[in-house]
Amino acid sequence: MKIYKLNATDGAARTGEVATPHGIIRTPAFMPVGTQATVKGMHPEAVRETGADVVLGNTYHLMLRPGAERVAALGGLHKFMNWPHVILTDSGGFQVMSLSAMRKIDENAVTFRSHIDGSTHVLTPERAIEIQTLLGSDIVMQLDECVRLPAERAEVEKAMRLSLRWAERCQRAFAPVRDGRSLFAIVQGGDDVALREESARELNAMDFPGYAIGGLAVGEPQEVMLRMLEVVAPLLPADKPRYLMGVGTPDDLLKAVARGIDMFDCVMPTRNGRHGLAFSRFGPINLKNARHADDPRPFDEESPCAAARTYSRAYLHHLTKTNEMLGAILLTTINIAYYQELMAGARAAIAAKAFASFADGVAAGWAAGDL
Ligand code: GUN
Repeated sequence: MKIYKLNATDGAARTGEVATPHGIIRTPAFMPVGTQATVKGMHPEAVRETGADVVLGNTYHLMLRPGAERVAALGGLHKFMNWPHVILTDSGGFQVMSLSAMRKIDENAVTFRSHIDGSTHVLTPERAIEIQTLLGSDIVMQLDECVRLPAERAEVEKAMRLSLRWAERCQRAFAPVRDGRSLFAIVQGGDDVALREESARELNAMDFPGYAIGGLAVGEPQEVMLRMLEVVAPLLPADKPRYLMGVGTPDDLLKAVARGIDMFDCVMPTRNGRHGLAFSRFGPINLKNARHADDPRPFDEESPCAAARTYSRAYLHHLTKTNEMLGAILLTTINIAYYQELMAGARAAIAAKAFASFADGVAAGWAAGDL
């Protein structure tokens, strides 16, 4: 099934549309992370207002609490969280590795202890598909194994090969329950060019509707990540979407778009917003800094985001210093809106064949700093 419509290219950068049962994703796209069936601190309507077409949910968290069968009985994740638009769910393997108390991977499954109550769970590729199907996800991710870097080549190779076999099992499990939804494969291979090439080629031959690139932004320098994108993106079919998982800073996003990436997700704008850090056209701004205490200016009078135009830096400083929840809410909103503004700018610039000058202009704004 073809789900991607390529509208324009500028060098390796692309703009297009990904079709799903709950609407279209305009690419390049940033997907706010809604791990626990909520983008932390934001009403779904407010998330939509920032321009987001899609949010990400997590198999790992939702299978443990409230449980995939319960969400299904309540009408599915879209209804449960009041987000009638596109939902992509990650498959759980990555979160097991970073969050669970105990975990073990073998050929068949990831076995782990819940970080909530210590109970033991077994996540097979087939169960990962079943859970995401019960949630009603529009874009389902294969179960994979992601290795943190730096790592021994043998370890990276083993995880990449296991991920290939799990891609096949996921594909087989998904076929009978697909119902218009899409399953994306995940390219692994760490920082090794040959392993990345093998992973991309093998998965390409299996003909998935979309491809993610995983195992990056896991401890390697940015230039290594970008080099891996330069290796992998040209090996992926031009008529299918490419999703770089867990990335990143605004700078990472623009550099990855320049290398042919279409979709991103990251906790950075939400997590940093909860800790007083705002992303903006002036670069990152720490609202906890005392220099904002007497500043009556709005955060950014030119932002398309109402919260950024409305609230003063002095007020945002006060809210973050006092740990008021409104501070977290407003900064999360400002950050998600900035990421969406960046992606909207990228889409327009690619369509106008002016992406490089757009990216240079944005970077110049960050370099000039806060006014
Ligand atoms: N999120 C960030 N990186 C990864 C990855 O390699 N695999 C999965 N499943 N999710 C991720």
